[in-house]
Amino acid sequence: MSDPRDLRPEGPAALPRPAGLATRCLHVGQEPEATTGAVTPPIFQTSTYVQEAFGKPRNGFEYARTQNPTRFALEALLASLEEGAAAHAFASGMAATTTAMLAFVSAGDRVLVSRNTYGGTYRFFSKVLANFGVGFDYVDTTDLEAVRGALHPSTRMLFVETPTNPVMEISDLSALAALTREHEARIRSRVRLVVDNTFATPVFQRPLALGADIVVHSTTKYLNGHSDSVGGAVISRLAEDGEKVRFTQNAAGAILSPFDSFLVTRGLKTLPLRMKMHDENGRIVAAFLEAHPKVEKVFYPGLPGHPQHALASRQMAGFGGMISFETGSIEAAERLLNRVRICALAESLGGVESLMCHPASMTHASIDPEERLLRGITPGLVRLSAGIEDVADILEDLEYALKAV
Ligand SMILES: Cc1ncc(COP(=O)(O)O)c(C=O)c1O
Repeated sequence: MSDPRDLRPEGPAALPRPAGLATRCLHVGQEPEATTGAVTPPIFQTSTYVQEAFGKPRNGFEYARTQNPTRFALEALLASLEEGAAAHAFASGMAATTTAMLAFVSAGDRVLVSRNTYGGTYRFFSKVLANFGVGFDYVDTTDLEAVRGALHPSTRMLFVETPTNPVMEISDLSALAALTREHEARIRSRVRLVVDNTFATPVFQRPLALGADIVVHSTTKYLNGHSDSVGGAVISRLAEDGEKVRFTQNAAGAILSPFDSFLVTRGLKTLPLRMKMHDENGRIVAAFLEAHPKVEKVFYPGLPGHPQHALASRQMAGFGGMISFETGSIEAAERLLNRVRICALAESLGGVESLMCHPASMTHASIDPEERLLRGITPGLVRLSAGIEDVADILEDLEYALKAV
């Protein structure tokens, strides 16, 4: 298991080098404000900026869809944490994915997608983008031969979620990056490996350092971490890709608001601390569930029995707080979810509080039932986002609720 502390020389010139990830969470993009020295980047709640003279905007600031200092502060921080050339922040995780697709695929292109993704990603690809002449191939991206076999001369993007929501499959990012480069050389055209890093966060996994081209995030989840903002981000390894995302961000317009940018920047200050706790609690809760007689199966990459446990240990610096488990039937899942008191029955994940949901009827309801079953999302599957409460209280809550199963 590698050390989650990042020792790469990043961050503003004033920081000691090499600056670690926790240091960058507190300082990158957050230099004291020029006029007052405010240590916290102000919320620039403005739609426009007065110009010095005709054709002379002040420091390039013209209009707030295009430029906002509070959003810029967050974007600088996100680029540093994911080790990219540029980051751009959006109104939701789905707006981030939408913008990445608009920037990098066109009618006639094919996209190879992990067969297991967040249900909303599948819905957007299969029910919206497919109407614009983009083809999608849903493949088990944990199987490199299946990926190799599904690459088509018109495949221009691989869109991979790892770990997947909700069955926690792990794909080998270095190997997928190598396949992407081979395919690119074969078809003599740019092909991008896009990774949804929402579950792992840059604390536990850096896809760009492993050869991916683009990272997308729902900042709604761990990055903001406090269940009080909806947002998303696209981080580009190469400056030229970052420029395409910047252009599309401004052209399509689904930007993150100044207030939400402030909230996510604030949330990120404690990201390493929170992820450490989510990981600690996640491991304990997963082991508890695995040993519980009412639980049929647990999906958690930190368990030695997980099919990609060795890969997860190599690729990730921690396993995180996301756990799914099989209760056997929809009735059992319902009884359990109606009885929890500390864990909140709610959509979403990655908040400081423990959240539980029923993927088949909630987060993945937009997938047809047969497709859902093919993806391992059974009626009895329950997803738990382990929060940072005292772990004994989470275990007691689960023990109490499981009595009803
Ligand atoms: C892995 C993953 N990616 C993307 C999204 C979409 O994010 P948002 O809800 O912020 O649009 C989600 C939402 O649950 C998710 O779990």
